[in-house]
Amino acid sequence: MRLDKYLGDQNIGTRKQIREYVKNGRCRVNGEVATKADIHIDPERDVIAFDDIELTYSKYHYYMLNKPTGVVSSTKDGRTMTVIDILKDENVRDLSPCGRLDIDTEGLLLITDDGELIHRLLSPKKHVDKVYEVHMDHPLTELDISRLEEGVDIGDKRNDGSADKTLPAKVLLTEDDEEGNPVIHLSIREGRFHQVKRMLEAVGNEVVFLRRLSMGSLELDRELEPGEYRPLTEEEINNLKK
Ligand code: URA
Repeated sequence: MRLDKYLGDQNIGTRKQIREYVKNGRCRVNGEVATKADIHIDPERDVIAFDDIELTYSKYHYYMLNKPTGVVSSTKDGRTMTVIDILKDENVRDLSPCGRLDIDTEGLLLITDDGELIHRLLSPKKHVDKVYEVHMDHPLTELDISRLEEGVDIGDKRNDGSADKTLPAKVLLTEDDEEGNPVIHLSIREGRFHQVKRMLEAVGNEVVFLRRLSMGSLELDRELEPGEYRPLTEEEINNLKK
């Protein structure tokens, strides 16, 4: 692989900037200052350092975003800001969100250019757990909880016309929020359109605020304010790929 491609994949800069950086002696290959950006290197064997920091090669890029409300989860939208717009300074091509959160939903969104991982995590067959913090209009009854946990009819139909109920879910009661709204943690294993809101509607309730806390092994970093993001750690990436 060419050195400039390697450095570009690590978001060091544009090709033009990288040529300049290399000319200025900021890059070392196996301890020697590289003098040309178009030399060939072996990402598996050669030790590449930029500004004396050793780089670990990764073909793909992985970020955790605490999605703020008011931003859409698509890659392009003419009018409204998208989650990809938030990461524009990273200069990474082909980033996509792993699944969608509604415009008024906050919380964990994995954003990556690793299409295979996105596909795997979203595959309906994989049943990846997603946990949501659900602020509701009024408390759930025992009956509501068992209906949510067993699976509810949210209006989806099977091919034969019968109700396609949601898969069993888990409900954990937590403290009320500051406005006095009851809050639960709801764990679901599917990703149907507006699923959480429709599940609560099916038991006669209403979601007043929704935040995603986790997806599979990946948990929202509570240090991230809404609108902030960070790269995933090596451990988080490996756990997600397991
Ligand atoms: N369920 C919803 O209703 N909305 C979301 O954004 C995510 C899950």
